[in-house]
Amino acid sequence: MPTRKYSGRLELTWTNKRLCLLANRNEGYEWVPPHDYRVSEVRLLRDAALVGRTRAVDSRSSDNLLIRGDALNALVSLSELPEFASEYVGRVRLAYIDPPFNTGQAFEDYDDNLEHSVWLTMIRDRLLQIRRLLSEDGSVWLHLDDVQMHRARCVLDEVFGASNFVANVIWQKTYTRENRTDISISHDNVIVYAVNKTLWKKARNLLPPSEAQRSRYSNPDDDPRGDWASLPVHAKAEKGRRKEQFFTITLPSGRQVDPPPGNCWRFTRTRYDEMVDDGRIWFGDEGDSQPRLKKFWNEVQPGLVPTSIWPYDEVGTTGTAKGEILALFPSVTPFSTPKPEALIERILHIASNPGDVVLDCFLGSGTTATVAHKMGRRWIGVEWLEDTVRDFAMPRLRQVVEGNDPGGVTDLTGWRGGGGFRVLDVAPSMFEESDGVVYLSDWAVNGALAEATAAQLGFAYLPEHPFAARKGRSRLAVVDGHVSVAVADLLTGALGARETLVICATSVDPAVREHVHAAAPGSFVRKIPASILAEYRVNHRERLRRELARSEEPEEVSA
Ligand SMILES: C[S@@+](CC[C@H](N)C(=O)[O-])C[C@H]1O[C@@H](n2cnc3c(N)ncnc32)[C@H](O)[C@@H]1O
Repeated sequence: MPTRKYSGRLELTWTNKRLCLLANRNEGYEWVPPHDYRVSEVRLLRDAALVGRTRAVDSRSSDNLLIRGDALNALVSLSELPEFASEYVGRVRLAYIDPPFNTGQAFEDYDDNLEHSVWLTMIRDRLLQIRRLLSEDGSVWLHLDDVQMHRARCVLDEVFGASNFVANVIWQKTYTRENRTDISISHDNVIVYAVNKTLWKKARNLLPPSEAQRSRYSNPDDDPRGDWASLPVHAKAEKGRRKEQFFTITLPSGRQVDPPPGNCWRFTRTRYDEMVDDGRIWFGDEGDSQPRLKKFWNEVQPGLVPTSIWPYDEVGTTGTAKGEILALFPSVTPFSTPKPEALIERILHIASNPGDVVLDCFLGSGTTATVAHKMGRRWIGVEWLEDTVRDFAMPRLRQVVEGNDPGGVTDLTGWRGGGGFRVLDVAPSMFEESDGVVYLSDWAVNGALAEATAAQLGFAYLPEHPFAARKGRSRLAVVDGHVSVAVADLLTGALGARETLVICATSVDPAVREHVHAAAPGSFVRKIPASILAEYRVNHRERLRRELARSEEPEEVSA
């Protein structure tokens, strides 16, 4: 029969899906086309504070990082600034994110559809950046209530691939009942996607058995192999069972038993006899009960495969989380949506190991960073609201470092204090716009201009007079002023063997371009900000073209 081909792809669409959203200063969002210069700009990360033990400034990227600013800006900086990119691109093991549903959007033509579209664009763009940072055996855990759940699954399918969906974990967030509503919601979802599901399964950790599970094992017959629990010896008589699994068993009491209706034995007669000889079948104290298989504690695999329902008595409730915050800050109104440390501990236990990097770019009160610190993981936390960092995340993490946080998972992890972290600020834009013309911002002068320019061009900022930065054998010189032929000579004269030069200047003598090219082949001159802005537009157009081409590519399905 000839194969029929179908084309098209399964995807969720929404208003303005092809646009980007800029986080603006009032903690709201603004729609812009993808080629808008502000979408491409790479923001600097400026040192703001140090807490506890941290590294020297030239290796600051490997400190634990608490970043103040919008998640997208911070994530782009982590993957584009060379000092951070070498540390984090493809090297973050786990991202747990708990974004708000209410995006704080205030469009004049506000409607529910737009609100969902803002949320979807906001989360898609951040997930795309998270994907760049994650390692091949990494995973993302997206915490949501039911509002965006089904839409978020579609976005995650687009970003990570439907085949990398791992599970939707149901967290029983409360055990109380809301009697005024139709159905009282008592759970949240944590959707798990892997970068590569096969690799992730091999690398993920099992859960330690709980006290309750251990207590199911005992040794009523003094078996020298130790404690055991018993399992039924029968199984459903499904397709594939062998006829040797249907037989009559004579119990030690002499009574004869068959498998229950619709069932067979789990073993063939021969295997069953071997199990009896090995003392692995239990017939009850009187030797007259249905046979059961003894499963010894010391033969149980070193842990339990996690299940997808996490009850409150194992990982806490929203009330537990509020209590943890109140214990640390008794005199302030608690942060409104913290998550319990035990919930985050379980996620980190399954999906990371000590020393791995854990990311949360919607940090809130700092739970993920707190638990990561106590569990010996390295961490990056990003939070947009300065007040939240000042009042919760930073003082909470300070107490963790100082060993003054006895709550949450402190006992479980044996945490006593230590380590430290670095607070970084996402720098403001290096550009300003007036009447449609883009200028350099007031702060972008001299050294700051050099650093910001290096960031846009992917050069590592390494001031070594007269150069500002380096990328392989290429040097960058940034001149906040006019470049004459004499200045250009000075710069090309300072180059080492086989080095090339990029000169960026706010004003350029027209003769300089040819001159530099001749003096140091492969070198060139750019006027700022115009040439950077032009490059953003071209790169973005090219990227957009590629992305659109990919998403419009027909999927061929054979039937
Ligand atoms: C639901 S809370 C996270 C709570 C956190 N899991 C905890 O245990 O405290 C969401 C946080 O994301 C922050 N946020 C919202 N939009 C953001 C953005 N674009 N970038 C960074 N943080 C953002 C909010 O200010 C809020 O603190």
